[in-house]
Amino acid sequence: MAFPTDRPRRLRRTEALRSFVRETRLSPEGFIYPLFVCPGEGVRKEVRSMPGVFNMSVDETVKECAEVKSLGIPGVILFGLPEAKDEVATGAWADNGIVQQAARAIKREVPGLLLMGDVCLCEYMSHGHCGVVAGQDADTSKEVAEFIHELEAQGKRLIAIPSPNLRGGASATALATPSAVTAAMAAENYEILNDPTLELLAKTAVSQARAGMDIIAPSDMMDGRVGAIRTALDEAGFQNTPILSYAAKFASGFYGPFREAADSAPHFGDRRSYQMDPANLREAMHEIDLDLEEGADMIMVKPALPYLDVLHEARLRFDMPLAAYQVSGEYAMIKAAALNGWIDYERVMMESLLCIQRAGASVVLTYFAKEAARLLG
Ligand code: PBG
Repeated sequence: MAFPTDRPRRLRRTEALRSFVRETRLSPEGFIYPLFVCPGEGVRKEVRSMPGVFNMSVDETVKECAEVKSLGIPGVILFGLPEAKDEVATGAWADNGIVQQAARAIKREVPGLLLMGDVCLCEYMSHGHCGVVAGQDADTSKEVAEFIHELEAQGKRLIAIPSPNLRGGASATALATPSAVTAAMAAENYEILNDPTLELLAKTAVSQARAGMDIIAPSDMMDGRVGAIRTALDEAGFQNTPILSYAAKFASGFYGPFREAADSAPHFGDRRSYQMDPANLREAMHEIDLDLEEGADMIMVKPALPYLDVLHEARLRFDMPLAAYQVSGEYAMIKAAALNGWIDYERVMMESLLCIQRAGASVVLTYFAKEAARLLG
């Protein structure tokens, strides 16, 4: 039937009619609010590139969680800023790690709130990578990290890759120029080791489960991590702890503000050897397949808005709970435009969340969770 018989505008005439035929209804019941826990007491430090998002000490995190729960948001995901970092990410799997402390306190003070633990090593590694780094001895890597920090302290912004020819005074000067950085990247001589990393990830997952995490969410993108974590959880008696795997996680520039919030930027190189190429949808389906075979109970696509096609394809193919992570850069862009008066903040925020849900996500991890929940009343 065509015009003039068919007039789709008939059902758009009033809000009552529009609401009546609405296909997707946004609700806070699928929201997860990310939190960044730091050492100290009474600390609430705003993240420069994420207005409205804070690094919070355990006591402040607990207060925040009470508010989150009162807004009808079912859960939070915890990230940690440890007191110290090293080459084996001790802070990630230590029983008294910052995230473990927060989980215990939240469980005690805000029962009923779902606690999700992000399992990754980057926040806890001295070099900022999500896995164990090889290709240089520990001394060299420490030396390179110190050297880079020194240059950064002089106000020089750079990315670099450790390489034997970067040591010493002459290269120190050379490294400060963009062409030297490019040359250094070409001379790349490090590797993120997959299998040794699995052991640390599994340890981290078990220690988080012990601290009371309800859901374990690995975000590292090592091969075989879901299987390794499932086995370790089962052996430790946590057969009933579900895994939400960041199955299709892309190597994205949209994570920039998060790395400031979590102090987790790699000190050299990037994450392209483990996170996915943004160009690949079929590979994303393969990654999800593998994680489900290894025992994932829920799957995630990340980032969200630039990857709605991936999310939609995953919804069509897999009959499992599907999450999307609306990441820090997505939040920062909307916030920045709003603060400049360039967009209608509430409208764009709600539209972005609605569209992520329409594309297929039943769970959305979002820094907008509190504000959106408030608007949804
Ligand atoms: C840890 C991790 C990251 C994010 C979630 N878990 C950063 C990264 O992979 O570099 C990003 C979340 C965001 O940008 O909001 N690996």
